[in-house]
Amino acid sequence: MEGLTYKHFLVGAIGAVILFILYRKFVGKKQQGPKPKPREGAAISLGDVQETALIPLAIKANESARKQPRIYDEKAVQIIADLGVDTEKYDKYFSHEGVVARTLLFDEATRELLEKYPEANVVNIGCGFDDRFSRTDNGKCHWYHVDMPDLIELRCRVFGSHERQTCIAGNLVRDDWTKDIPNNRETIIIAEGLFMYFTEEQVKALMAQIKSYFHHGYLLVELMPSFATGNERMHDSVKSTKAHFTFGINDGKEMEKYCDGFTLLRESTFFEAMKRYSWIGWIGDKLFRRIMNRLAIFEFK
Ligand SMILES: C[S@@+](CC[C@H](N)C(=O)[O-])C[C@H]1O[C@@H](n2cnc3c(N)ncnc32)[C@H](O)[C@@H]1O
Repeated sequence: MEGLTYKHFLVGAIGAVILFILYRKFVGKKQQGPKPKPREGAAISLGDVQETALIPLAIKANESARKQPRIYDEKAVQIIADLGVDTEKYDKYFSHEGVVARTLLFDEATRELLEKYPEANVVNIGCGFDDRFSRTDNGKCHWYHVDMPDLIELRCRVFGSHERQTCIAGNLVRDDWTKDIPNNRETIIIAEGLFMYFTEEQVKALMAQIKSYFHHGYLLVELMPSFATGNERMHDSVKSTKAHFTFGINDGKEMEKYCDGFTLLRESTFFEAMKRYSWIGWIGDKLFRRIMNRLAIFEFK
C-alpha cells in the first residue's frame, strides 16, 4: 500500500464530499433523533489531547438517542448530560459514521477474544470515556482503563467504582503504566483513537513496553492512513480541538517491523462495518478503502 500521494488524497477528498452530500440528503436527516440535553453550567477542563475523548462520547450519546441506534451507550448519554457538554462541535457527520463503525468493529473483536479467553485482562489504553466493558462483559474478565491523570479523575467521577474495573492515571509515553496490571494471563490491549496522537518513535516504544511486560496477548489498534498525518484541520471534529495527528501508516504489516514478537492477524477498514447498514458505506468500501481508518489486530508473544 505504498505510494499514496496528494492526488490520491484529492480524489479521496472529492469522493468524501460526494458521499457527505449524498449522506446528508438521503440518510443522515432520517436518522436524527433528539439530542441528549446538557446540564447548564457544568464546565469541564481537559488537556488538548484529552479533549478528543469528548468526540466519541458525544457521538455515542447522540447515536443512542436516535430512533434506531446502531450502537447504544447509556453511560455516554448520562455523562454528556451530567457534564453539560455541548455536542455540536464534536459530533459531525464523518466522525459520527467513523465512530459508530469503529465501535461496532472493536466491540466484535473484543467479544471474539473474550470468548476464547474469558478470564483475560483487558487493558484500554487512552480509554477516554469508553464503556466497552458494559457492552462486552462476560462476568469474568477484568478491565484496566489507562489515560492521562485529568481524564482519569473525571472518568472516576462519572463512572464510579466497579470490582472488575480499575482506572490507572498516567502518560502512556512517559510513565510506567503497566506496573499495577497483573501479567499472569492473556491480555487484550485496546488502543482506539490513540496512536494517531503519538509519534512513530512513541508507537515503537509503546509496543516494546507491551511486549516486554505482558507475556501473550492481542493488540486491537485503530490505524490512520499516513496522508492524514499533520492534517487534523481537515478532520471535521478533531479540528475543533488543539490535538495534532502525528502518526499514520498505510499497511499494518509494516508495524511488525517496529517490534519483534508482534504478528498482524487482520486489518478491517471502518467501511466494513458501515457497508452493513448503508449503501454509502458499500460505495466507500469499493472506492475509498485506502483512505479510511481501520482496526488492526496483532498477536504478541
Ligand atoms: C480520541 S480519544 C479516544 C478515547 C477512547 N479510546 C474512545 O474511543 O472513546 C483519545 C484518548 O487518548 C488519550 N491519550 C492520548 N495521548 C495519551 C497519552 N500519552 N497517555 C495517556 N492517554 C493518552 C486521550 O487523553 C484521550 O482520552
